[in-house]
Amino acid sequence: MTFAPLVFKGDHISIIDQTVIPVQERWLSARTVDEVAHAISVMQVRGAPLIGITAAFGLVFSARGIGSTGDEFMESFEKDVETLRSTRPTAVNLFWALERMRALATKLKDIDPAMRNEALTREAENILAEDVDMCLAIGRNGAVLVEQGETIMTHCNAGALATGAYGTALGVIRAAHEGGKGIRVIARETRPRLQGARLTAWELHRDNIPVTVIPDGAAAHIMKSGMVHRVIVGADRITANGDVANKIGTYDLALIARAHNIPFHVAAPHSTVDFSLDSGDDIPIEERDAEEVTTLNGERLVAKGVPVMNPAFDVTPADLIDSIITEAGIARPPYTESLKRLLGKRGS
Ligand code: MRU
Repeated sequence: MTFAPLVFKGDHISIIDQTVIPVQERWLSARTVDEVAHAISVMQVRGAPLIGITAAFGLVFSARGIGSTGDEFMESFEKDVETLRSTRPTAVNLFWALERMRALATKLKDIDPAMRNEALTREAENILAEDVDMCLAIGRNGAVLVEQGETIMTHCNAGALATGAYGTALGVIRAAHEGGKGIRVIARETRPRLQGARLTAWELHRDNIPVTVIPDGAAAHIMKSGMVHRVIVGADRITANGDVANKIGTYDLALIARAHNIPFHVAAPHSTVDFSLDSGDDIPIEERDAEEVTTLNGERLVAKGVPVMNPAFDVTPADLIDSIITEAGIARPPYTESLKRLLGKRGS
């Protein structure tokens, strides 16, 4: 099993700062809602499931800071829910985890604050533990698709660093590796935040899983050479019809995989599925600071005054996706039926 990027220490959470990997392995403490919200906003903590888990602990600290009960308690608690909701708009796991905590808080609002806080703490710990179990199940389910000696391409980081531990797309890769399938991984660097180069390569290399980093633009050229057997990526939000929002560049990776007849899979737990949205057209896409594009390590790359666009996610249409690997099994098209059948009772 891989390391966990977040550890609950009773009065705070300890999180590995993902903005400085691989140069440093620095752990940060967060013990208030504002510290948790800041860590999510600046992407010290990132990856859809981990954002949700971290926010759940943010609400544990919120509840502990509120002495009152009843509607007075809920009024303050809801403000903190709102602070956390406004950190990042695309990954639905954030809203799923906040809603789970809010529902429990509403149910327990009138009881003794110490008992209420204890129950909320247990709920956040459950959210974390369940995520690890789901990643292990996704790994087991997805590894069945992988054949001996394959090279798998991935994008961004859907690994231990993005979850409670083990990962989703990298969970499948880990399970295939542990099963002795002799796989290799190609990680796209993932401009502009470089989660592939900085995070995916770091965590796979640490686990002795062979990984090669390529510039994003090299993927089609490498696929054409016949070197890639499969693509597996994670997701930030999957709609009822199987459209998938994931890190910017995922859509073009799916298009070039299809052009080269290479299977394209998405791996995600039920907390990433948003049955309330019919299609990906309705997913809010985060637009991040232009500076992520105009500068690199503080050095200016783009002439001052030149406009840039920096959407952090894109939506891959369901018809480019060969399967969606979940903890409950593998969904295949048409996703409107298969997702409902597999996850209907669990999905958000
Ligand atoms: O902006 P990020 O780094 O939070 O984006 C992360 C991704 O796009 C991941 O692929 C996704 O959250 C799945 S993580 C299991």
